[in-house]
Amino acid sequence: MNFRDDFVWGAATSSYQIEGAQDEGGKGPHLWDEYVKEKNDKIFENQRGDTSCDHYHRFREDVALMKELGLKAYRFSVDWTRIIPEGTGKVNEEGIAFYDALIDELVANDIEPYLTLFHWELPMELYKRGGWMNPQMPEWFAAYAALIADRFSDRVKNFFTINEPQCFVGLAFSEGVHAPWLQLPNSQTLLMSHNALKSHGRAIQELRAHARQPLTLGFAPTSGIALPATEKPEDIEAARQAYFGIPQEGTWAWNTSWWSDPVILGHYPDEFLRHFWKELPKITDEDLKIISQPIDIYGQNIYLGYPVRMGDDGKPELLSRNTGYAKSASNWPMTPDCLYWGPKFLYERYKKPLFITENGLACHDWVHLDGKVHDSSRIDFTARYLKSLSRAAAEADIRGYFAWSLMDNFEWAEGFGQRYGLVFVDFQTQRRIPKDSAYWYREVIRTNGECIEG
Ligand code: BGC
Repeated sequence: MNFRDDFVWGAATSSYQIEGAQDEGGKGPHLWDEYVKEKNDKIFENQRGDTSCDHYHRFREDVALMKELGLKAYRFSVDWTRIIPEGTGKVNEEGIAFYDALIDELVANDIEPYLTLFHWELPMELYKRGGWMNPQMPEWFAAYAALIADRFSDRVKNFFTINEPQCFVGLAFSEGVHAPWLQLPNSQTLLMSHNALKSHGRAIQELRAHARQPLTLGFAPTSGIALPATEKPEDIEAARQAYFGIPQEGTWAWNTSWWSDPVILGHYPDEFLRHFWKELPKITDEDLKIISQPIDIYGQNIYLGYPVRMGDDGKPELLSRNTGYAKSASNWPMTPDCLYWGPKFLYERYKKPLFITENGLACHDWVHLDGKVHDSSRIDFTARYLKSLSRAAAEADIRGYFAWSLMDNFEWAEGFGQRYGLVFVDFQTQRRIPKDSAYWYREVIRTNGECIEG
């Protein structure tokens, strides 16, 4: 295996997906809190994340589990409305105290915290004022970032600004499958994307300005990976072009270059500017300067890929999958090669140290007669994906891997119907049971991936 000696092995979660305590501790409402009430017929079995894993009350037990599993790092997110209930203005000290205690517990257990500022909890008060459409959004987000740095950066060194803008703009406002379930025209979602990227840039500036020690900063987008149908140079080139080009399927938001080029290269991709010229927001040089504030690490959430070859017309051609292809409980295809091609393509283009900030598998897990959770498919999945990542690590600077997720949790529109955890959660009793994959992952961490070879 090609993992560096200091490779960061971790697991990830996000606040709304695990915390619960939505009406406690002085927290304000965010978009999901409110919309699961109004529109919860859009969520599997009308479920809501009000209690979820009750991590807010059980975080010490959860950190103890992380320790038991040998995790070196934990990626979690802060709920903006827990520390600034209305998104701007008054700070909620009770919310700060919760994250303080969580961070202290991690540090005391030698688990490196990686803090994500925004994993989709848009404060309701800001949403009412236009949310991502409002030109003030970058300043609201900047003030939130400054507070985070002021209060937490004495103990937290690693930060990711926004998680998957592809989803909180695309899935939520373009495809209408996440709160607030809207399908707005491109002109509006492109404006949101621009403001989201400016918010990212302003957050980087504020995190640096308020840092209490040297920080490592990044952001964490996603998107499916184009996989060359063969390793012939023309198919590899077709995959590269498809990966960084305008999506051939789905909405415009499912892509990499629109989000990552401006952040790292300082400009939007020409192909998009030409294609969407009628719907684009005003983009100034000053905006691009803000968006492209230097970052130290590039995080990418990678779950799956889609096959591509070079068509006879010299353009990338998407291929259909083989009949009976392997897929997860969320119907996502198992495509281990995406952890080779994704990091390879990203490193070639952006030349930044990479983290896989999320990767994992939804399974229909349950507690077996012997009281254990035997999730051999998750073990097989992760072993295959990590082999590919090791291949990539021979060619690209890959610093770490965060399994999604530490524990089963509220899977957005899928409610509790999809289990991604290394740790099983019984949502009736809140009992946690590490699955077989959790103990297997502990061995992966202990051997720096070497045990996978056998
Ligand atoms: C998100 C997670 C989500 C996971 C599985 C990612 O898109 O960041 O919040 O649970 O995928 O769907």
